[in-house]
Amino acid sequence: MNIVPTSVLDKEKIDCFFIKHWGSLEMVISSGTFQCNELDGFAVLNESEQIIGLITYIFHAEICEIISLDSLVEKYGIGSSLIDKVEQIAQKRSISQIKVITTNDNLHALSFYQKRGYQIVEVLVNAVEQARKSKPEIPFTTENGIPIRDEIVLQKSLGVDQVLKGDIKYVMNDNSLTAEVFLLLVNGVWQGDYNETLTHIALQKTMNITAWQNDRLVGCVRILTDGYFFGTISEILVLPEFQKMRIGKQLMELAWEASPTSLFLGAQPGKEPFFEKLDYTKGIQSYQKKKERRK
Ligand SMILES: CC(C)(COP(=O)(O)OP(=O)(O)OC[C@H]1O[C@@H](n2cnc3c(N)ncnc32)[C@H](O)[C@@H]1OP(=O)(O)O)[C@@H](O)C(=O)NCCC(=O)NCCS
Repeated sequence: MNIVPTSVLDKEKIDCFFIKHWGSLEMVISSGTFQCNELDGFAVLNESEQIIGLITYIFHAEICEIISLDSLVEKYGIGSSLIDKVEQIAQKRSISQIKVITTNDNLHALSFYQKRGYQIVEVLVNAVEQARKSKPEIPFTTENGIPIRDEIVLQKSLGVDQVLKGDIKYVMNDNSLTAEVFLLLVNGVWQGDYNETLTHIALQKTMNITAWQNDRLVGCVRILTDGYFFGTISEILVLPEFQKMRIGKQLMELAWEASPTSLFLGAQPGKEPFFEKLDYTKGIQSYQKKKERRK
């Protein structure tokens, strides 16, 4: 499916789409009045580069809101793909909630969103009356005679698990972690020549818990586990200037909570007290046989 950000499309094309399908560029709902053509979004294009699906969204402080969603060709997964795209962006920004407002008459949308994990969290009775004051072209009834009256707010939790301690945000199972950002941290601790593609693949194989100060990755612990017999900490890293601030301890505690198995690990020389303070005890003798890392 050819999905592109709306920012790469001709503005005129987007304007025409909204005017044709929504009557104007303006969307009036209880959460605000939006100029749809100015919002971030994604479009699905057909072979002739025509828009056959479009989603727009906005980020509020803690929540992402879908403002419009249109699919012109049903049952091809266009709507689902567009929603997935926005959910991924929200997850990358560690936004844990996504919401959408539809109206009581839109039975298709209500079923579509609920099947994709969205739950009705609020019914704003007669909210459309208010919207109609600034957008009088909103019809009063649908073609099949349902009065267009109430707004229905649906919301979905994106499963981004976060813990905030002071100004450090810890993200469990951080799927947004990119190889590029991770390697900035690794190089900040253990300078080396690392392959970004292989790092990307490696990150997919571990459960990654990250520590962020604003948008800067300052620490990370990775757990490698088979889920039943064995689990280990691939590595725990905290940027030198953030060490001795209890970030490592917090990461290890979260790793312990998240791990389904016991954890066995090797401590770098000098780091034994760090693990011992966290109740790790000396176990079986460890052995190693080293191979050069792939380039
Ligand atoms: C090891 C590492 C992850 C610790 O992270 P950190 O954020 O500095 O650790 P914390 O601040 O949470 O320390 C928790 C406790 O361990 C102690 N501690 C941490 N590192 C220690 C060390 N090298 N020696 C003695 N005690 C240490 C702290 O003083 C603190 O004690 P407290 O609870 O009594 O105050 C960090 O030093 C690091 O990234 N090092 C480089 C990479 C590395 O060696 N990783 C380990 C691979 S095995």
